[in-house]
Amino acid sequence: MHAKVEPQPGPARILRPEEIPAVQPEVLEPAEREALRARIKRLLEEQDAVLVAHYYTDPELQRLADETGGHVSDSLDMARFGHEHPASTLVVCGVRFMGETAKILNPEKRVLMPDLGAECSLDLACPAEAFAAFCDRHPDRTVVVYANTSAAVKARADWMVTSGSALDVVRHLKARGERILWAPDRHLGRWVREQTGADMLLWDGACVVHESFQAEALARLRAEHPQAKVLVHPESPAEVVAQADYVGSTSGIIEAARRMDAEVFIVATEPGIFHKMREAAPGKTFIEAPTGGRGATCTSCERCPWMAMNGLRRLAQVLETGANEVHVDPAVAERALVPIRRLLDFARARRQEIYGNNDA
Ligand code: 13P
Ligand code: SF4
Repeated sequence: MHAKVEPQPGPARILRPEEIPAVQPEVLEPAEREALRARIKRLLEEQDAVLVAHYYTDPELQRLADETGGHVSDSLDMARFGHEHPASTLVVCGVRFMGETAKILNPEKRVLMPDLGAECSLDLACPAEAFAAFCDRHPDRTVVVYANTSAAVKARADWMVTSGSALDVVRHLKARGERILWAPDRHLGRWVREQTGADMLLWDGACVVHESFQAEALARLRAEHPQAKVLVHPESPAEVVAQADYVGSTSGIIEAARRMDAEVFIVATEPGIFHKMREAAPGKTFIEAPTGGRGATCTSCERCPWMAMNGLRRLAQVLETGANEVHVDPAVAERALVPIRRLLDFARARRQEIYGNNDA
């Protein structure tokens, strides 16, 4: 039976406000945007490069990825696509752990990012040395880390998971009788623990974007839109998740918007996702779930400041100069490949189980 006593949380490094950059989305005049788009398309061809973008990036980048044979997706599928695509250069538009994962899986390929300073608060809140010490104190537990971690943290893990795969992997480990040490997101970890009943010891990290969703304001918004369905990413606090009609990964949220029998949705995740939601479910209405906001008058303006560092100007520049190449220490990469491969193999086997082939 699941232990009644709450496991003690692991240590965390709380980000200081000055470590969270201001959100500075790129602003372009139409003429400059068109010129950049043309330049990037030419450079992608010349350099045998392909764009792999996350749903939270600027819609301009997502459009360009789609138009040039690249891919826009969640973190698991970005890794899979980059690995299977024949291009010799992967340009990862997202945050650093996504670039690192691409490099670890494809050491022979050149991996570029528009901005190497695009971090992730979960990654920053889980320094490798403190994490290793935490693992050392619990040698009997299987170490499961979220994709949103550094290569060095993955190098210490048995499994990597993403929000789209965490439930399946943890159920699988629980069925084998394994007890889990989980890092770094406490909200996702708590949700997975509730859903699976697994014995999980949690690191105490959080995403600064999802943690800012406000449960009371959400309840008021729901009262104003009683027909709306609520879609929530599991990095959000428990009181927000409790109000959801659907909880899942970014891909899961887009699919829920398409599939669910509703016209209006309140969405608790980074609003960059609205571009693909509108494509998947045209005509439906999407409302941002309320956040604390950065200013007194702002009730729903939370963007991931690191995702916003990806823009067309920087993308053109790195393709032109070869700057911002992602490098991972080969010894760390070799060890970090183990939990990443384990997840990709597990996800492929699950797809085969469900759909009977690899293409689904
Ligand atoms: P997904 O794997 O669901 O795309 O999530 C990545 C992420 O960073 C969410 O904040
Ligand atoms: Fe990291 Fe949160 Fe940004 Fe996702 S939204 S990349 S978890 S900081």
